[in-house]
Amino acid sequence: MRHLMSPMDFSVEELEKLMDLAGDIEANPAKYAHACEGKKLATLFYEPSTRTRLSHEAAMLNLGGNIMGFSSADSSSAAKGESVSDTIRTISCYADICAMRHPKEGAPMVACRHSSIPVINAGDGGHQHPTQTLTDLLTIRSLKGHLGNMTIGLCGDLKFGRTVHSLIHALVRYPGIRFVLISPEELRLPGYIRSDVLDKNEIPYEEVVRLEDALPNLDLLYMTRVQKERFFNEEDYVRMKDFYILDMKKMALAPEDMYVLHPLPRVNEISVEVDADPRAAYFKQVQYGVYIRMALILTLLEIEVK
Ligand code: CP
Repeated sequence: MRHLMSPMDFSVEELEKLMDLAGDIEANPAKYAHACEGKKLATLFYEPSTRTRLSHEAAMLNLGGNIMGFSSADSSSAAKGESVSDTIRTISCYADICAMRHPKEGAPMVACRHSSIPVINAGDGGHQHPTQTLTDLLTIRSLKGHLGNMTIGLCGDLKFGRTVHSLIHALVRYPGIRFVLISPEELRLPGYIRSDVLDKNEIPYEEVVRLEDALPNLDLLYMTRVQKERFFNEEDYVRMKDFYILDMKKMALAPEDMYVLHPLPRVNEISVEVDADPRAAYFKQVQYGVYIRMALILTLLEIEVK
């Protein structure tokens, strides 16, 4: 039985197969409409979510399966003190597969050790968000036609942003990847990712503070929100939250083919005026998130559709 804890759980070849399957699902939705009949997905969300929870649910419903779950710790027996390991042993009696989001790093890993069904990490604290990374890879491949040989700007909260951490892990396996890490000093990418992932794989990168300096040289800009929920005090968050605001004036500095991605939710870091720019790809990204999660559910449940 397979789980998904990190994007590294799939080899590059397996990721290609997964993205090809997502492409086939997009092109032939009717072929997959009954693939999961009789199967149940449980969504165990101990932290707020719109996209990740509902896209997993949409994916299972699109496959003809059923869904159950909870959307906050307060509405589950976690509020009474139940452990993650007891919860997953219980859910294993009800469902065929589950997606878990938890504020504590490593909680889905604990769950998979006590689970008899596949567990998908739907985001654990400031650590990893592998299904967002699958979504991002599919979006980049669909827009650019390939995943290597590009300069990617990662902008915003690189310290706490789990989507950025997972995406870096996944992208360093492709040739010709360069990063521009754009953040305020206090929200720099953690040292362990710089040394254990970027330096170890000899990935060229530079760290800059000004978004304007980076924009002219990017093939792709990945914007992120300042992660309010990970800050220790409100004052620091308020000081940092509007550090970057991408608007049309800044977009004018960027190449004509520089797509803008964002895992969403957005707060102020992308002005709504940018939404109308053909390079704004973050709502396309949301749609790709459903196709790739359909492909993931089929793969983890080992269901082949002929
Ligand atoms: N991208 C993402 O994780 O969004 P949600 O928090 O809405 O799930």
